[in-house]
Amino acid sequence: MLIAWLMIRRETFVRTLITGPTGRVGSRYVRRQLDLHRPVRVLVRSEPQVAPWWNGGAEVAIGDLREPETSQRAVEGVDAVVHIAAAFRGVPDDEAYAVNRDASIALARAALDAGVGRFVFVSTSLVYGPGRGRPSVEGDEPYPQGAYPVGKAAAEAELLRLHREHGLPVRIARLAFVYGDGDPHLAESLAWARRWAPHQRLHLVHHADVAQALDRILAAEGVDGQVFNVADDAPVTALELLRANQEEPDPEAAARPLDDPWAGIVNTCRIRALGFRPLYPTLLAAQAAGAL
Ligand SMILES: NC(=O)c1ccc[n+]([C@@H]2O[C@H](COP(=O)([O-])OP(=O)(O)OC[C@H]3O[C@@H](n4cnc5c(N)ncnc54)[C@H](OP(=O)(O)O)[C@@H]3O)[C@@H](O)[C@H]2O)c1
Repeated sequence: MLIAWLMIRRETFVRTLITGPTGRVGSRYVRRQLDLHRPVRVLVRSEPQVAPWWNGGAEVAIGDLREPETSQRAVEGVDAVVHIAAAFRGVPDDEAYAVNRDASIALARAALDAGVGRFVFVSTSLVYGPGRGRPSVEGDEPYPQGAYPVGKAAAEAELLRLHREHGLPVRIARLAFVYGDGDPHLAESLAWARRWAPHQRLHLVHHADVAQALDRILAAEGVDGQVFNVADDAPVTALELLRANQEEPDPEAAARPLDDPWAGIVNTCRIRALGFRPLYPTLLAAQAAGAL
């Protein structure tokens, strides 16, 4: 585990710590922040990851979030945190819990101790678990399945407790399946979309709209302790996912049962009340715009 710590400061006023800048969501979100000349500090895990962010104008902290001193140092002097880092692709369960639950809680506690004004926790709509016969709403009791959603749900619950009992200014963004901007995620969806009934749906959100949503959640007044579903306007069918990847479904697929057509679909009224309007309301809109 990386224990080295290095902080490289710029002489600018730092406002937001963003974790996970080397990941699929974080890299695209930070680039958008830098394009807008917003002062950010990013947390990376190793020195070779520093250069692109430093050269792009970010302040850079180095450390592994599983090390307590990483959180404490990373939040020093920032006004806000957007916590995107997570471990769920090909990691053992104990690492998923250590990063998604324990390190997220440690980072939130460090932010609370440091008096950080806003803390956005990036979570997943997978915390809802099986369908409820309607789109999931933020007030639904999470029923997560598997180490990644269980760890995220546990972190959410503790962060919300820290809000209620200690005033942690947390806002939670539950992202749908994220795609676009050259992310291979859509093509990777074929691994399971091929096994689905062609009319089974998946709720998506484009990276540009993740950025819009996180910015709105971060900027909104009076929403501490709230959870926001982040998704586009039209969930996509497995058939459309296959076709977006130039495939046709197996002819037998239409006979596959679909127990709950609302499984995985979320209600987005709450974030729309913050002014969120997807730039890419559908997969087809993103495809037509050349934004896949
Ligand atoms: N992609 C989606 O469709 C989707 C959907 C719903 C929610 N989300 C949420 O969005 C966030 C980002 O997802 P992603 O797809 O971008 O994931 P990703 O590509 O796997 O990126 C994960 C990021 O977290 C960092 N990280 C992992 N372990 C760390 C540790 N111990 N200390 C510090 N940093 C660590 C990684 O750094 P390294 O590069 O050093 O490994 C990387 O920057 C996650 O919170 C996830 O739950 C994503």
